[in-house]
Amino acid sequence: MCGIIGYTGFEQASPILLEGLSRLEYRGYDSAGLAVQLPARTAEPHPLQVVKTCGRLQALIDKTHRGADLLGSCGIGHTRWATHGIPSVENAHPHVSEDGSIAVVHNGIIENHFELRRELMSEGVPFKSQTDTEVVAHLLAKACREAPGADKTAIIGSALARLRGSYALGILFADEPNTLYAIRRDSPLIVGCVRREGQTISTILASDIPALLPLTKQVYYPEDDHIIKLTLQGISFYSYNPITRTVADITESYGAPVTLELSETAARLGKYRHFMRKEIDEAPKAVKDTVQSGLNDPSNMIFSDESLLSSLQSIRMIACGSAYHACLVGKAALETLCRIPVEVEIASEFRYREPVIPDPRHTLGVLVSQSGETADTIAALRLCKSLGMPTLGIVNMQGSTLAGEADHVFYTQAGPEIAVATTKAYCAQVAALYLLALRLGQAQNRLAEKEQAELLEQLSALPEKMERILETEPDLRRLARKLASTHHLFFIGRGMDHALAMEGSLKLKEVSYIHAEAYAAGELKHGTISLIEEGTPVITLATQPQLLHKTLSNMAEVKARGAYVICFSNAENALREGVLPLSDVADHVVSLPITHPCFSPLAAAVALQLLAYHVSVARSLDPDKPRNLAKSVTVE
Ligand code: M6R
Repeated sequence: MCGIIGYTGFEQASPILLEGLSRLEYRGYDSAGLAVQLPARTAEPHPLQVVKTCGRLQALIDKTHRGADLLGSCGIGHTRWATHGIPSVENAHPHVSEDGSIAVVHNGIIENHFELRRELMSEGVPFKSQTDTEVVAHLLAKACREAPGADKTAIIGSALARLRGSYALGILFADEPNTLYAIRRDSPLIVGCVRREGQTISTILASDIPALLPLTKQVYYPEDDHIIKLTLQGISFYSYNPITRTVADITESYGAPVTLELSETAARLGKYRHFMRKEIDEAPKAVKDTVQSGLNDPSNMIFSDESLLSSLQSIRMIACGSAYHACLVGKAALETLCRIPVEVEIASEFRYREPVIPDPRHTLGVLVSQSGETADTIAALRLCKSLGMPTLGIVNMQGSTLAGEADHVFYTQAGPEIAVATTKAYCAQVAALYLLALRLGQAQNRLAEKEQAELLEQLSALPEKMERILETEPDLRRLARKLASTHHLFFIGRGMDHALAMEGSLKLKEVSYIHAEAYAAGELKHGTISLIEEGTPVITLATQPQLLHKTLSNMAEVKARGAYVICFSNAENALREGVLPLSDVADHVVSLPITHPCFSPLAAAVALQLLAYHVSVARSLDPDKPRNLAKSVTVE
């Protein structure tokens, strides 16, 4: 949530900051702002120019004439997802100190901001916004007043030692030309250097990789509470000791920057109208690359740690949103293929419910997250570790907090995902869990060699089957237009198809704002069937051959009550042979390719994602930036 960016170099800062913000807009889009140091003309401290707008980033781009209005080559920017205070110009970042000499941008939540605000107000500091962030600007100003001329690293260290909560902060001081400061705690922050002919020519900070990609692939992932100083010469890192109130230069300990292995175009729209559509197209490749990396990369520790895998008694998977739904599919695969007990939990519940883990040392905690920055999932990981469980993070973002803290990491290979609604990253998560099931089945001697080989073959063939689903787009677009005017609908399925129904329903709600409910197909008649009336759409998922007849009965039940039944099924052959009366109970059938039943949900997911996308477009919405949402949920 919230995107932050900072740049100091030789070029005009604001167009660069705006370009960076446009690549971060998926993190929040209810207001935006910039603060830029005016170029030096006198010996006076550089004043800061601050421009803020409410609404999408375009308003800021227009107001500043694409940044041309703001001269200066050092500045910070922000795109907001409101937590404290409504979306408004006053609440937009950057927030500035009373005299306008310090500006800050923030992602995260300052938990003790009420106390700090009260204290500062009692000292006469006037507040202009309702945000938690504003206290940071005032605390910094107070520290500057109390220690005039002190080094800014010490000022930041002493002022921020008072904050509780999570933050990634970009800080600009008027009296330090061409210099930015940053600090993070439990919130993502990346810094990078742009080098020409062996010399650093500019430095940048951002809350996410896509914003840095046009300028550099040489980055550092700062650790919690380290103070970062960015200048034209390079990046330095400092630690602050609150007891001795001293600062130590720890730049050497960071060594050389990490080189990102991502192409600059990975986060560009190219020929597509929306990122969501582009990313659905990229899902087969995300699955292919994830499977390949699981099979080929020996550094994927979890796959080579034979003793851990063979001694596991159970698995606890924990995640949020779509990642949670991916875990539900993973549970079914792991239990079917490995006969190992698996529990799946919502991270925000798990972390506060004092879970009972009977044999923690032999229970693998699997934390699944695209961003690796989801606050509740990170907290759940820490809880698992404190309980003595070995942990595996299944993460898409390199260098993220979850990846850094889990005992083992398996990276999904989806590349940057920009659309708020996850598509390719969800598919890659499911693929990673399939791999885990295959590997565990082997380590625990649950899968015979031949069976293992067959499953691997089917898994490797999945991307090609997912491609085939993309070819059904015209039919899904027509179906989407039919559904676009509905007010509510149901997704039903049994077993793995129930997990898939939950994801299909979330995807549709998220981007179309149509109310949808996912139900276990057999459960509907225990109450909810009363909501079915003439024409209510019921999307039935029927990819599990062993449950097909049961699901058909459930379709018949809703059909008899007037439902408009849509069936996503791979029972095409059976249908053709007239074995199953699918056409008797379905008004519309979407045919899916046949694969191993454990893998069917992945192929079907692509069809559901396409459907959701087209419903959103048919309703003239922006599928990439659904209302009220942001891509990574870094607050609990
Ligand atoms: O980054 P994460 O995978 O941890 O994110 C978890 C959820 O916030 C995320 O999957 C969310 O539900 C998606 N927007 C759904 O499309």
